[in-house]
Amino acid sequence: MPGFDDYGEVDAVVARVPCGGGGEEKRGIRDVFRLQVHLVVANLVVRNGWRDDRTVVVVFVGSCRPMWEIFRCEDLVERLGDVWIYKPDLRRLKQKLLMPVGSCQLALPIIKHGQGKIEHDVSKLQVQNPWNHPREAYVTVLHSSEAYVCGAIALAQSIIRTNSTKDRVLLADKSISKRSLEALKMAGWKIKFIERIRSPNAERHAYNEWNYSKLRIWQLKEYDKVMFIDSDLLVLQNLDRFFALPQLSAVGNDGVLFNSGLMVIEPSECTFKMLMEKSKHMVSYNGGDQGYLNEMFTWWHRLPATSNWLKVFPQANIRELHELPNVYAIHYLGYKPWMCYRDYDCNWDAMDHQIFANDVAHWRWWAVYDSISNRLHPFCTLSTRMELRMKKARARAGNARFSDGHWRIKVKDPRKRQ
Ligand SMILES: *[C@@H]1O[C@H](CO)[C@@H](O)[C@H](O)[C@H]1NC(C)=O
Ligand SMILES: *[C@@H]1O[C@H](CO)[C@@H](O)[C@H](O)[C@H]1NC(C)=O
Repeated sequence: MPGFDDYGEVDAVVARVPCGGGGEEKRGIRDVFRLQVHLVVANLVVRNGWRDDRTVVVVFVGSCRPMWEIFRCEDLVERLGDVWIYKPDLRRLKQKLLMPVGSCQLALPIIKHGQGKIEHDVSKLQVQNPWNHPREAYVTVLHSSEAYVCGAIALAQSIIRTNSTKDRVLLADKSISKRSLEALKMAGWKIKFIERIRSPNAERHAYNEWNYSKLRIWQLKEYDKVMFIDSDLLVLQNLDRFFALPQLSAVGNDGVLFNSGLMVIEPSECTFKMLMEKSKHMVSYNGGDQGYLNEMFTWWHRLPATSNWLKVFPQANIRELHELPNVYAIHYLGYKPWMCYRDYDCNWDAMDHQIFANDVAHWRWWAVYDSISNRLHPFCTLSTRMELRMKKARARAGNARFSDGHWRIKVKDPRKRQ
């Protein structure tokens, strides 16, 4: 960073935008110098504006759009060819600057308590809020089929159990039946209807054909911040503190990419429009929303891995993990608990799914199931189709004499008899 004091008082900052060598039509730009320039400009603006409530204007010059992760789409006042003029919202901009930058500081600081218990400290990331009650909500999305209704019911209940004080909103498209919507309401969701969104790159009837529906979360303008959570997660410990982080905060998936199963975002119609428009050209490495969002938000902030703890064990020797230390939320990759017998995690029975198998995590889900009203249990029944799939996998595991031996367990799941 330059010596900011040398600049004196500033009313306008002009900077050239590095475009990282072009190619922004299809892929997001990942360029450190570009980030540096934006951070220098942002720091200068916040220092000057904060002192005496002044409006500081930013002018970027360049053929590519300035980083919208830092200079929000709403704050763009005018664009004249290669000239981009912004009047930034200082509070939001300042919050971005409180986020750590650089590989040695990426993790949130932790406070250690006794018995290995740790707590993540977000106190230094909060900007004094002009509103006493920031409008914040957990949000999940159900579209195209009812396969995740049970998951969403358990998710709501798991959030409630942590004494969260935030709203809970479920976005549903017309494929979710009235009966299911009633159950979801009873479980603790406020329901809002959406039209699903087609993935521009997906094949017809592919598993990810409608995955872009998730983009609708940006339209929830009645909230300042939203924590999006996929319906195949279960919350074990209160996540409310992570609303202190700005858009976009998430957990690392691999390398520089984040997992889109849990994200803190800031709703904005302008952002939504841009996401819709750019989706026509940008590539998505997996054809789904995760690949796309990773191109659109190349600068993102790290939540602790335990806040979206991916249930995947590439090393065979840790698959039998007997406890889940300090996990805030489990992301059930592979076969979902409600699509399995409750007796054990049926990912054990399929060779290509064994990396997702873990009985302890599986039983944690069923413990939440047991705590919910009996009236909601019928939404988690075992369908003939699910059972057929499991029987086949069990038979194959038995023939191959899988060494974990789960296929030997006598299944007592009462859902079989419903
Ligand atoms: C939630 O609040 C209740 C009542 O105050 C308390 O007994 C319980 O321990 C709290 N649960 C958690 C997970 O903090
Ligand atoms: C797309 O959505 C489907 C169904 O909701 C889900 O099973 C799948 O994991 C999603 N895929 C991606 C790549 O996001």
